[in-house]
Amino acid sequence: MRGGVFVGGAVLMLAMAGGGFVRGTVARGENASPVLAQPAAAATSQAKTMEVKIDNFKFGPEALTVPVGTTVTWTNRDDIPHTVVSTEGVFKSKVLDTDEKFSFTFAKAGAYDYFCSIHPKMVGKVIVQ
Ligand code: CO
Repeated sequence: MRGGVFVGGAVLMLAMAGGGFVRGTVARGENASPVLAQPAAAATSQAKTMEVKIDNFKFGPEALTVPVGTTVTWTNRDDIPHTVVSTEGVFKSKVLDTDEKFSFTFAKAGAYDYFCSIHPKMVGKVIVQ
């Protein structure tokens, strides 16, 4: 979200600096940016978000299946701190206090197991397809 606003601002600034050459500026921007140049599918599929609640020492839903490109947001609903840590080291939250959130965008398909590093028995999974 912030990245998108930043890119938009940068393009606007470039467009202003380039006077009337808005088309050329935008094309150059796409070529220069690895984020925009990467997946053609990202342009056609809508960005989605999904929520996982951490409550009573459990991730809910414990297993979540999402399309590629989905941002998952975990919210700690417990009055106890928890973390969200990928078993494979793909993502790692800070210690989340009550009502704090952690988000990660899944750009690649796969099965992502995670756990709470404070309470390793707390486990969950995100399946990206
Ligand atoms: Co925990």
